[in-house]
Amino acid sequence: MSVDTLFSPQELFLAWEREPWSSQEIDLTADAQAWPGLEPQERDAVLWALSSLIVAEERITTQFTGLVLAADDEEETSYLASQQVDEARHLQFYARFQNQVVADPAAIASHVARAREHLGDPFRQIFDEALVQAHEKLVQNPRDRAAKVEFVTIYHQVIEGTLGTTAFHFITRYLNEHQLLPGFVTGYRSIARDEQRHIAYGTGFLRSAVTEDPAMKDAIRKTLHQLLPPVAQALEPPPTNEGPAFDVDPSEVREFALAGLNRRLKIIGVEL
Ligand SMILES: [Fe+2]
Ligand SMILES: [Fe+2]
Repeated sequence: MSVDTLFSPQELFLAWEREPWSSQEIDLTADAQAWPGLEPQERDAVLWALSSLIVAEERITTQFTGLVLAADDEEETSYLASQQVDEARHLQFYARFQNQVVADPAAIASHVARAREHLGDPFRQIFDEALVQAHEKLVQNPRDRAAKVEFVTIYHQVIEGTLGTTAFHFITRYLNEHQLLPGFVTGYRSIARDEQRHIAYGTGFLRSAVTEDPAMKDAIRKTLHQLLPPVAQALEPPPTNEGPAFDVDPSEVREFALAGLNRRLKIIGVEL
C-alpha cells in the first residue's frame, strides 16, 4: 500500500482484511534473551522510543471515535472501524513488549515520565491540545466539514504521516543495522504497514474535501502552520552520552519528515 496513490475507503477496508496480524503472536523470545545484554545507551534509546510510542499511541487510540461518527457513508464507517481496531492492536503490541521483554515496571514508568518530560511542550501542543480540541469539536458536530478536515490534518498528516513515519524509518534503520530486537522490528513493521493504510485514508479524504470545497485548503494550511514548529521540536532525538540516539543527524530527520509531508500535500492539492 503506497501513501502516494489515492485509495477509496472501500479499497482500504479490503486491504485491511488482506493484511491481518496478531499483536500476541509475534515471537519476542530472542528480544527477551538479548535485552539484558544490550549496551546501556542502546537500551536507553529503545526505552525512550518505546515510551514515546506508547504515550502517542494511547492518545491516538482514545481520540478517534469522533471521526467514526463523522463518516459520510457505510464504506467509510467500515474503513474507520478497521483503523480503530488497528490502533488498539498497536497499543497491545507495545504493552506486550514492555511486559515480556523489558519486564521492569519501574523502568517503564520512569521512562514514560521521562518521555513525557523530554517531549515536553511540543508533545503537549500536538497530542494534548491540538488533537484533543479538534476531536472534541468533531464529537460535538460530526457534520462540521472544517472540523473533520482539521482533525484529519492533525491525526493522519501530522501525527501518523509525519511524526510516526519518520520515527519508524530512523528507529528501524538503526535496529536493523545493529541487528537488534528482531521481534520488536517485526511488530513495528506490521504497525507501520497498518499506518500506511491510515495515512492513505487521510490523504484521500483531504483530497476529496478540497476538491469539493477549495476553501478547505486554508483550513489545512492553517493547521499545518500552527503545528510545524512543535513537530520539528518533537522530532529532535534525545541526546545520549554517545551523541544523538539512533545515530541520527537532526537535519536528515527534518528533511525526511518534510519531504514525505510535501509529497502527500501535492496529492491533496495544497501548498504549505
Ligand atoms: Fe497506530
Ligand atoms: Fe494509525
